[in-house]
Amino acid sequence: MTAMDYSQIAHWYDIYVKTDIDIPFFVNEAKNCARVLELTSGTGRLSIPLIEAGISLTCVDNSSEMLAILRQKLAAKELSANVYELDMCNLTLQEQFDLIVIPFNSFAEIINLDEQHRALQGIWHCLAETGHFICTLHNPPVRLKSVNRQLMLRGKHSFPDDDGTLFLWSVEECDRAKPGTSDRQNSLVKGTQFWEIYDSKGVMKHKSFVDIQFFLHQQEEFQKLIQSHGFQVVNLYGDYSYSEFQRETSPFMIWVLSKD
Ligand SMILES: C[S@@+](CC[C@H](N)C(=O)[O-])C[C@H]1O[C@@H](n2cnc3c(N)ncnc32)[C@H](O)[C@@H]1O
Repeated sequence: MTAMDYSQIAHWYDIYVKTDIDIPFFVNEAKNCARVLELTSGTGRLSIPLIEAGISLTCVDNSSEMLAILRQKLAAKELSANVYELDMCNLTLQEQFDLIVIPFNSFAEIINLDEQHRALQGIWHCLAETGHFICTLHNPPVRLKSVNRQLMLRGKHSFPDDDGTLFLWSVEECDRAKPGTSDRQNSLVKGTQFWEIYDSKGVMKHKSFVDIQFFLHQQEEFQKLIQSHGFQVVNLYGDYSYSEFQRETSPFMIWVLSKD
């Protein structure tokens, strides 16, 4: 089971995901690394700035539609990277990297624990002995604030050249609500995204929905998971300004991990 069918929304991804808050952080982390592997690179929101900063990048994603957009961007900008269509839970790369990153909380898109173990095993084999693995996750207490079974407007985005508007709505619920689930357990969020597109005159041109799921790792549970694969915690930041992680208030858990 997958977290989300990106083939349905790949062509809109760059319209609705505009954030750049993590880019200076990753450029800084990658700047002295000879070989960097970005898992879940998608359409290259982060990949392009990394390559433009002179980093030798290998991109992995399992969506051919997302990667097709990344390849178009690379060609248009005359940039190069190794791009592989691969499932991060079945990494078959025969290389080792000084830095491996999973940006944008995308490890959460592996919703099955066995597959999380397989992904970590593959990452371990691809990580150079002195390398670092940076895994970004949602911080459950903060992320759960918007998981409330209410239909919420997540964004209103204009198409280029005043060619209409995209509205993204979603509703999310969490198994945390089930009896017997404690605040300290991992949990799964399930939801539906609703996509509406209006032309410049306000006439609806398109309406569709996509089901989504993602995993919320608790700090202690994730630490146990990565330690069971031999990873050590070098740092845990709560945001992309290198702030110390605060359990109740940090937006993210940004784990910097090493092999020893
Ligand atoms: C939210 S997008 C993030 C894309 C990009 N990293 C960014 O920051 O904009 C998540 C990406 O993860 C990819 N993905 C999800 N599960 C994956 C898996 N098991 N293996 C490889 N890629 C996966 C999706 O295809 C999608 O491109």
